[in-house]
Amino acid sequence: MTYFECLPGGSLSGSLRVPGDKSISHRSIILSSIAEGVSHVSGFLEGEDSLNTLKAFQAMGVEIERNGAEIVIHGVGLQGLKAPTRKLEMGNSGTAMRLLLGLLAGQTFDSVLIGDESLSGRPMNRVIKPLQTMGAVIASDENGTAPLSIQGKQSLQPIEYDMPVASAQVKSCLLLAGLYADGETVVREPAPTRDHSERMLRGFGCEVSTNNGEIRMQGLQTLKATDIDVPADISSAAFFMVAASIAENSQLTLEHVGVNPTRTGVIDILQLMGADITLSNHKDVGGEPVADITIRSSKLKGIVIPEELVPLAIDEFPVLFIAAACAEGETLLTGAEELRVKESDRIQVMADGMNILGITANATADGIRIQGGEYQGGEVESHGDHRIAMAFSVASLRASSAIRINNCTNVNTSFPGFVKIAATAGLRVKSYDSE
Ligand code: S3P
Repeated sequence: MTYFECLPGGSLSGSLRVPGDKSISHRSIILSSIAEGVSHVSGFLEGEDSLNTLKAFQAMGVEIERNGAEIVIHGVGLQGLKAPTRKLEMGNSGTAMRLLLGLLAGQTFDSVLIGDESLSGRPMNRVIKPLQTMGAVIASDENGTAPLSIQGKQSLQPIEYDMPVASAQVKSCLLLAGLYADGETVVREPAPTRDHSERMLRGFGCEVSTNNGEIRMQGLQTLKATDIDVPADISSAAFFMVAASIAENSQLTLEHVGVNPTRTGVIDILQLMGADITLSNHKDVGGEPVADITIRSSKLKGIVIPEELVPLAIDEFPVLFIAAACAEGETLLTGAEELRVKESDRIQVMADGMNILGITANATADGIRIQGGEYQGGEVESHGDHRIAMAFSVASLRASSAIRINNCTNVNTSFPGFVKIAATAGLRVKSYDSE
């Protein structure tokens, strides 16, 4: 078991590039595999989550070469995947499991998706139920959780679906299943969620229309191979945005970060709290906006987080809570019950850890109330959740003594090399292995 030991204090400076975007990395493998021709992916996230997706497609007969930082995928076309030789291991990744479920529902062969303990407890009915309406045959355990067995050879019908939760995973799952249905699939989202699937499908030559939260796509379209440059992950950059905001005398630039407007809620929330964040060097990289982000230390104030920003910052709340505890006054989050079904119950686990560190943070059913205060040192549990582990390491910048964070192995799912990059930037964090 890996744990982090973080000494108090420190400031951040310089310029760095965090690893590739996890959402875009998953999708780059999925769409390249079912495209016709050879696609090259640069900047791919070599984290365990996206590597599980890569290995799953290899197990379905797709030739994928890893040439250093470049991945070369020899697409097999929409109908070219082969029956996997084993159960498909999704590890810790909800995105991999939910997106692959949609794709596998439309195949001619049977398959089984499995995951680790955390993933095996996460809700899958949100994708199983609409897929069953399309004609998919899927068996889960009695709670609607993995393992998931998919019976192939079904002819899928297109669906017109109003999503009850604002979820890019549900939307993307249904679009992938919709590719195998003869007719038009229509998905409506209750609030905007990340649109990487729609953008990337267009990059592969598919027609996808979006209008006011409604996505329409004809099935059985041919995807044509394309090259993809994966930007740095704004969800990984977020740890450093908060770090440089709360640590004294800091100025840090994060390079080539994906700033798709469906992902930039973290910047909006930090700016509402008074953070000093500027974007420069704007580019369009394969249909995704990218920029450099510069952050300077600032005095933060507590806010009521606007609910419409919740889906646009959904993965960044653990570290935003860390910022809220360094702000003057109270911060209130509502409308974020989805945080309870992520890799851990992020509302409860963060409230518990912050309380141990001397911060008044009260969990509510759909959010949290945090009072600005002073972090003391202590030992906190990450519950195997990568983003909780990294968030608490950022708290050490303002702690009065050391913070130990347990169960940090899963940081490798999204941010391999975190400790090294963080230490270079100015955090005083070290990683240790215990028996
Ligand atoms: C993701 C969507 C989000 C996010 C996850 C990645 C994606 O999940 O939390 O880390 O790549 O589509 P939901 O769609 O369940 O909110």
